[in-house]
Amino acid sequence: MAKVATIGILTSGGDAPGMNAAIRAVVRTAINRGIRVMGIRRGYNGLINGDMFEMNLRSVSDIIHRGGTVLYTARCPEFKTQEGIDKAVKVCREYEIDGLVVIGGDGSFRGARDLSLNGIPCVAMPGTIDNDIGASDYTIGFDTALNTVMEMVDRLRDTCQSHDRCSVVEVMGRHAGYLALHAGIAVGATAIIVNEVPFDIERDIFDVMKRTALTGKKHYIIVVSEGVGGVAELAKKIEERTGVETRATVLGHVQRGGTPTVRDRYLASLSGYHCVELLEKGIGNRVVVVKDDKIVDIDIYEALNTKKPYPLDIHMLAKEISI
Ligand code: ADP
Ligand code: F6P
Repeated sequence: MAKVATIGILTSGGDAPGMNAAIRAVVRTAINRGIRVMGIRRGYNGLINGDMFEMNLRSVSDIIHRGGTVLYTARCPEFKTQEGIDKAVKVCREYEIDGLVVIGGDGSFRGARDLSLNGIPCVAMPGTIDNDIGASDYTIGFDTALNTVMEMVDRLRDTCQSHDRCSVVEVMGRHAGYLALHAGIAVGATAIIVNEVPFDIERDIFDVMKRTALTGKKHYIIVVSEGVGGVAELAKKIEERTGVETRATVLGHVQRGGTPTVRDRYLASLSGYHCVELLEKGIGNRVVVVKDDKIVDIDIYEALNTKKPYPLDIHMLAKEISI
């Protein structure tokens, strides 16, 4: 097997806090092992257009504590076409890139799979605040986003309490409810509404508010996953039906930024290191995941075909402790 001399690294899809820690670990590990690293800008766009630069040990100084991604990120529709892949392969050959680290969500994994199939070994790692990668217990950025949501909703609780109001808060997660569930538990939500669990406004909100009011509750937090959406209409219905003044808040992209937590920096660093270990051996078409608190790697096809079950038992537990 020919020695791996150069690898590329890119971040793709929505950014996530901790991506910089991963980039740092990849660059430092690779250079320490005599491998050159090309930093590719704006995801697969940079690969197709040859927008890249050689990184050195100091290119990744002072980034471990920063949210976002120093390599920038983007969505690149052209990469979903064979023409786009062909262009990327050509650029990889031109820059003598022997392997690639891709940090992103499952869309980005599909790109990495296609590139691996076309002769460029890729190793991917999950970076998304949604925690929606079936094959991994955890995705980089989830913990930071959760802490941000918690802080924001704690603030909402203050004003909610002062006014005896109900606050309906929409959190991100695309189609997945993990962010809503975990944050909902952490903020002591009266109700958590997600796509994965059928929702009945009468049973899940009006009845709960009525019942808890009987024991003295005067303010309420309802956490809604963005996949369900419609928080403004929901707030209106709650106010009309219960008489409790209600406000809707969409937290939005504030959830994607900010200083990464210890968990995100730590797991990103370990995962980045693991990615280089694989590429160094010429191994591609793998995803580096967290399983039972360990960093392991699995086949990309397997990763893409693994569904993440929504923890219904935890959802029910949340209901029980919000009475
Ligand atoms: P995420 O990686 O966070 O899931 P996206 O789904 O937007 O985000 O995907 C990011 C990028 O990955 C896309 O813009 C595209 O360049 C690439 N990608 C997504 N799906 C595919 C696919 N089916 N085949 C090839 N590349 C894809
Ligand atoms: O996948 C991360 C995520 O923040 C989702 O939670 C959300 O649905 C989406 O990205 C938002 O994407 P954009 O940044 O394109 O608005």
